Amino acid sequence: MKPVKLGIIGTGVGATFAAQGISTFSSEGLVEIVAVADVYEEGAKRFSEKWKIKSRYKDYREMLEKADVDAVSIHTPHYLHYPMTMDALKAGKHVLVDKPIAMNLKEADEMIKEAEKRGLNLGVIFPTRFDPIARKVKEAADSGRFGKLVLGEALVKWYRDQDYYAKSSWRGRWATEGGGALINQAIHMIDLLRWVMGPVDYLWAQMDTVGHDIEVEDVAVATLRFKNGALGVIEGGTALYPGLPPKFELHGVKGMAIIEGGTLRKWSIEGEEEITEEGVKKGLKSWVRPDVVPAANHGALIKDFVKSILEGRKPYVDGVKGRESLEIIRAIYKSAPTGEVVRFPVKE
Ligand SMILES: NC(=O)c1ccc[n+]([C@@H]2O[C@H](COP(=O)([O-])OP(=O)(O)OC[C@H]3O[C@@H](n4cnc5c(N)ncnc54)[C@H](O)[C@@H]3O)[C@@H](O)[C@H]2O)c1
Repeated sequence: MKPVKLGIIGTGVGATFAAQGISTFSSEGLVEIVAVADVYEEGAKRFSEKWKIKSRYKDYREMLEKADVDAVSIHTPHYLHYPMTMDALKAGKHVLVDKPIAMNLKEADEMIKEAEKRGLNLGVIFPTRFDPIARKVKEAADSGRFGKLVLGEALVKWYRDQDYYAKSSWRGRWATEGGGALINQAIHMIDLLRWVMGPVDYLWAQMDTVGHDIEVEDVAVATLRFKNGALGVIEGGTALYPGLPPKFELHGVKGMAIIEGGTLRKWSIEGEEEITEEGVKKGLKSWVRPDVVPAANHGALIKDFVKSILEGRKPYVDGVKGRESLEIIRAIYKSAPTGEVVRFPVKE
């Protein structure tokens, strides 16, 4: 089988995660990064040298036209996810887009429709769905081992200084980031919450900007009711000094699990031996240093995407699944200014 020829768009933090992820399975000959595009030429040069990529482009449209790529993976500021995905699909390329799928649901729906229409794959980067600990909790919840689910919590209490926003022209603005702490940082845990707990019935939310000179939220809370009757809580922020490990808590009538900082912190089921601190990775502080996050989950997600092309099937995290966290976040953005309850499906 010939490897999938991939072009990468963007060469920042997200693209580096992807390249590191690909390096975990590159010996299997499933994918080859053949081109990279970035308006920041110095960045593209450095990236192409580091990852030994043959061609580089300043304009991604030129890459779509000239480079012989089967698929692209998009790691650019959020406002570019929609136009770049649509251009790539129209050029006949499969697309893997970094989180969030898009800035709003209208864009996400058009992207999903376009991919469907053309018979191309659209994947979204939510590596937590490939995390072995998250999968263990998801499988136990699905098979009823925790009993009827009662409460799910996604807690992302992080800290980013003003420089983080000041040094990056697209962050901190509605028009380019599409939101703040929720759409950028808390989205992975929100996705995990939605994945494990199932569809949301309604929510209401509050948010604020307290610690930075930015337009978007740097602290937010939401209470949710899931369709299965369970309650939910989301807390997200980048103004919460000094920052804590991201945490997911699940409670059923017969048991509970806590995933904290990528570790199974506690697992307790009636009649079974309790587990504490499984897979604790010493010194791993991903909430402070994203560069030390292991690439295994990214690798597993990208490998699935590449194999989905080779095998002619949908990727595990397709556009529809990639849209689920965005729907919750857009509901929070709708509810917070007015305090109104927002019912699902969310209309925009
Ligand atoms: N999945 C993850 O764990 C993870 C981690 C970090 C970032 N991300 C995501 O990756 C994406 C990018 O974020 P980042 O932190 O890498 O940002 P960044 O600012 O570090 O990098 C963005 C890159 O896009 C390039 N770019 C901007 N406009 C472009 C254009 N028109 N054409 C080509 N390139 C262009 C920039 O020059 C820059 O190199 C976002 O969607 C972000 O949410 C995901």
